[in-house]
Amino acid sequence: MRKIVIAGNWKMFKTQAESEEFLQGFLPHLQETPEEREVLLCPPFTDLSALSRNLHGSRVQLGAQNVHWAEFGAYTGEISGPMLTEIGVRYVIVGHSERRQYFGETDATVNLRLKAAQKFGLTPILCVGETKQQRDAGETESLIISQLDEGLINVDQENLVIAYEPIWAIGTGDTCETNEANRVIGLIRNQLKNPNVPIQYGGSVKPNNIDEIMAQSEIDGVLVGGASLESESFARIVNYH
Ligand code: G3H
Repeated sequence: MRKIVIAGNWKMFKTQAESEEFLQGFLPHLQETPEEREVLLCPPFTDLSALSRNLHGSRVQLGAQNVHWAEFGAYTGEISGPMLTEIGVRYVIVGHSERRQYFGETDATVNLRLKAAQKFGLTPILCVGETKQQRDAGETESLIISQLDEGLINVDQENLVIAYEPIWAIGTGDTCETNEANRVIGLIRNQLKNPNVPIQYGGSVKPNNIDEIMAQSEIDGVLVGGASLESESFARIVNYH
């Protein structure tokens, strides 16, 4: 059985006070959430400690949005795996397209971060996906295969989540057709040694399309940006039908 993982990626939104306010509105909705769904919040680093304290006893897991590959060292501005696990973080997003686009992340650095995350006890969520230009040029499949091939060198596939995020669908309201997302996710699964790796879809997931997305046979969860910022909206997504 593949695990279902529903994750909110808050990107660079929410102060600590705002994150605590979110929790107050969100947590009561989890009473309706089926046990087998893993519910995950990935806030900015500065919110992690406060959320960790406030989540005590709840089923919500915490994820970071990035991790460095070293255990410690002179890497100004970076955060290591042990710093995250110490405060209760269990997951980390690696290789999000915004990191690749704005911060020089490459498949090689993605690979280093994935291995470090696993070494220090975190479950990485590897993000892959094509630009509009790559899709129009018919390069979607080859691009994704190369992101997987290079990103996953020597990575343990027993402790891994993958997110397929077509870049043109992120924050645009332009969701990938669900059957197309399902097709690409099937292709990703065929590339893996472990067919039980949970594979999420991400890109303009909203309360009004979550049921259709989760009805697809290959899709094991979602990585939600904008619609995870508001407690009622993310609760509707987590409690999809
Ligand atoms: O990590 C989340 C994705 O980038 C999706 O963002 O739901 O705002 O389109 P979005």
